Amino acid sequence: MDITSAEFVVSNSRADMCPQTHLPEYAFIGRSNVGKSSLINMLTKNPKLAMTSATPGKTLLINHFLINKEWYLVDLPGYGYAQRGKKMMEKIQKLIEYYVLERKQMTCLFVLIDSRLEPQRIDLEFIEWLGENGIPFALIFTKADKQSVGKTKASVNRFLNTLKEQWEELPPHFISSSENKTGRQEILNYIEQVNRSLKEQAE
Ligand code: GTP
Ligand code: MG
Repeated sequence: MDITSAEFVVSNSRADMCPQTHLPEYAFIGRSNVGKSSLINMLTKNPKLAMTSATPGKTLLINHFLINKEWYLVDLPGYGYAQRGKKMMEKIQKLIEYYVLERKQMTCLFVLIDSRLEPQRIDLEFIEWLGENGIPFALIFTKADKQSVGKTKASVNRFLNTLKEQWEELPPHFISSSENKTGRQEILNYIEQVNRSLKEQAE
């Protein structure tokens, strides 16, 4: 699949202001600065679509982008950025919880993991919480351009092996780089496949 149109629709901090359509949504979550917004720009080939920043804490709202007029990419704020202050952290946590737990249109949550790091407790805990709540998700290991292919593979395996201690079945996973477009086609093909199965179920 390729993306022929990508439009910013709405940015909001409130549940009742998310688009009132029934189109499937694919959302990006992960620690602040892991590369959620950059990945949306890479997938849509529009470097200005989602706002990115070298300083963590850039995305603070739920952002909906309509793709090919058929489905949404959703950019969420990052979790675990303590410098925002307690109040802001709590507010963002609520926003994430609402979106992940209540949003019926949420079809797959892509959890972004920095491919350079050892498994981080905050990511593992977040994934555990998804499991407890039966949320469908996939993993994307980001910033693969920042190290050798071998190091990325080793890091991904470390993470998956850690998950295996808790999970019988591993979620789908992808390796990405927003710098050199690694993973773009794989992620889009996966979304296309899920969209297709949703359509078949509806028929
Ligand atoms: P918040 O909105 O703050 O939660 O962050 P985010 O997850 O949306 O991260 P964002 O996309 O803003 O990227 C953070 C920083 O990492 C920016 O300086 C990006 O240029 C950089 N970055 C993101 N993805 C990649 C990547 O694949 N490769 C490299 N080299 N840098 C990346
Ligand atoms: Mg962002």
